[in-house]
Amino acid sequence: LLRSKRRWVLSTIELQEEMEVEYPFKITTVKNYIITGQSLTFVISGDGVHDGLFSIDDVTGDVYVHKKVDREEKEIYHITFDVWDESANTKMDRELSFDVQVKDLNDNAPMFTNIMKIVSVDENTAEGFLPASMEFKDKDKEKTINSTVSISVVSQNPAEPKINVTQIDDRMARLTFKGCFDYDKAKQFKVKVTASDHGKPPLSTTEVITLNIVNKNNNAPKFKQKQYEVEAVEMTTHDDILRIAVEDKDAPNTDGWKAKYYFISGNEEEIYSLRTDPKTNECILSVVKEKNYNQNTLVNLTIGAENVEPLSICKDNKLIKDPKLLPPPDSVNVTVKMLDTNDAPVFEKYTDEVYQVEESEPGQVLYTPKVQDIDSPNVRFVMVEDPAGWMSLDEKTGKITTIKKMDRESPFVDENNIYRVVFAAIDDGTPPATSTCTIKVHLKDINDNTPKLVNSSMIFCDNKVIKIMVPAEDSDAEPYSGPFIFTLTGDKTLKRLWKLDPSLERGNYSIPLLIQDKQNMIGHETLEVEVCDCGGGNACVRTINPLSTNVSDAAIGTISLGLLLFLILLVIFVCNQPKRNFQSFEDQGQQSLIHYNEEGMSVDCKVS
Ligand SMILES: *[C@@H]1O[C@H](CO)[C@@H](O)[C@H](O)[C@H]1NC(C)=O
Ligand SMILES: *[C@@H]1O[C@H](CO)[C@@H](O)[C@H](O)[C@H]1NC(C)=O
Ligand SMILES: *[C@@H]1O[C@H](CO)[C@@H](O)[C@H](O)[C@H]1NC(C)=O
Ligand SMILES: *[C@@H]1O[C@H](CO)[C@@H](O)[C@H](O)[C@H]1NC(C)=O
Repeated sequence: LLRSKRRWVLSTIELQEEMEVEYPFKITTVKNYIITGQSLTFVISGDGVHDGLFSIDDVTGDVYVHKKVDREEKEIYHITFDVWDESANTKMDRELSFDVQVKDLNDNAPMFTNIMKIVSVDENTAEGFLPASMEFKDKDKEKTINSTVSISVVSQNPAEPKINVTQIDDRMARLTFKGCFDYDKAKQFKVKVTASDHGKPPLSTTEVITLNIVNKNNNAPKFKQKQYEVEAVEMTTHDDILRIAVEDKDAPNTDGWKAKYYFISGNEEEIYSLRTDPKTNECILSVVKEKNYNQNTLVNLTIGAENVEPLSICKDNKLIKDPKLLPPPDSVNVTVKMLDTNDAPVFEKYTDEVYQVEESEPGQVLYTPKVQDIDSPNVRFVMVEDPAGWMSLDEKTGKITTIKKMDRESPFVDENNIYRVVFAAIDDGTPPATSTCTIKVHLKDINDNTPKLVNSSMIFCDNKVIKIMVPAEDSDAEPYSGPFIFTLTGDKTLKRLWKLDPSLERGNYSIPLLIQDKQNMIGHETLEVEVCDCGGGNACVRTINPLSTNVSDAAIGTISLGLLLFLILLVIFVCNQPKRNFQSFEDQGQQSLIHYNEEGMSVDCKVS
């Protein structure tokens, strides 16, 4: 404290931390040069006063510290002074204060605040930084030598590769190395690092970092055998015909151990495939494409192996990754004997078409096959499909001959007029091999079907209608089918009945008909007609006494029926057919027919 213009003048009192002295220890004396001779009392308050660290002798003004102070706990204590006149109980001067500055000692060693003590390092790590970093700190006064820290590697085991440390800033450092790791030589490294301050003398802390080397691919797969032989049958695919084993010194089931196989040569046609058995790491060879060989054939395959993970090796303390600088991958030779089997006969054509007019005379040669068989030339032929039984097949030559007339209207002929014949060629190999050939016989239509009634019996409801339509059909196609010409045939009684007889009674009638198609092909048909009362429906009403109806009504009906049936047949199909010879009806009912014609039909139509 210095006097100046009657004021308390303060400065900073320095106090060494951790002082080894007897306590309480006097650190200063407060004096007042202005006020003397009076009974004064000195009082302090502030940091460290209440808890008894600092005290003042109220008479002498001596200020004491009562125990060691620690700068790292508190560096500056702010203390306030007062001087009192005891008798007057008044403050003598203005309240003033001073600071106690605690001086640093190098009493703290550096600490590692964040350090990775166990670190995994990939074997193939390139030289430079390691994934091992550390943070450190020294609690002594910052920016002095007592808190300035240097990190160094003091020892390592094993000694190679050389591990070092790079200090990134004043609180972080990282391990580095030169050279390469070889898992097979050393799986673990112990690295002792020291953090040391620059105090005099320096203080330091030591830690051990463990580096665990992670095995990477530094061993290529090696084939256990250099040559393999295996057999496979031609024209079949076959999974897993051969297993080829490799040895790999890397840790099992890692990508550095897992093998990948590839063809170096011999599989240009991609007949074979390779894959890896995930459990055993073996190479599995398969045949994936069918190929025909004319004789037993040896196929030479060269197969290479490498690992899933690229190879890198540590040689002369240098990491080698470039494939050009690495030793070439191992390879193996496999000879596959492809066994020729009995190949089936080969038809020049496996389906063929022939054209034939239906109903032609049998005995015609329809087809002669051309067949080749390289390995067993004795071929015989058998019929496989001839549903209508129209063909015969020469067992030696395969020649197909018709033995029956072929009918286009047969149910075995499809809607496109095609009849399918399938036959097989069988060779004499062991076992015999078979090929089949399909012949499509296109049948040309001829007029071989007569027209037929669609329904050969009909009901004539004489209480409701005066005519019925009589449909006919012909299985032939144009121009061998309709329109048709209908003619009544049969004896005179029948003709009379269906023409004019007014006494036609209800009952069942058989009406022989002659139906001609467009080409005048005649079909003889009989139409059964039941004449009856249908009531309100379309079927005959069966009464106990069918003859009890009004006679005159029935008579008119039957006349009409006779007329109409006849006329429908004629008029529909005759008009455009001027030259027709119908059965003659001259004797009966001429006038009735003319009469009808005048009323309802064209005058151009002439009906005899
Ligand atoms: C560092 O500590 C020493 C005692 O170990 C002391 O003498 C010195 O003054 C301190 N240095 C600083 C810059 O505080
Ligand atoms: C594999 O066969 C080739 C010739 O096809 C030969 O040059 C090579 O030495 C053989 N390799 C082994 C391992 O036998
Ligand atoms: C044929 O006629 C009878 C009687 O008129 C009838 O019951 C039958 O259903 C008809 N059949 C066909 C196929 O039209
Ligand atoms: C006509 O034929 C049908 C069945 O074909 C029969 O039920 C009916 O009794 C016959 N009618 C006469 C009159 O004979």
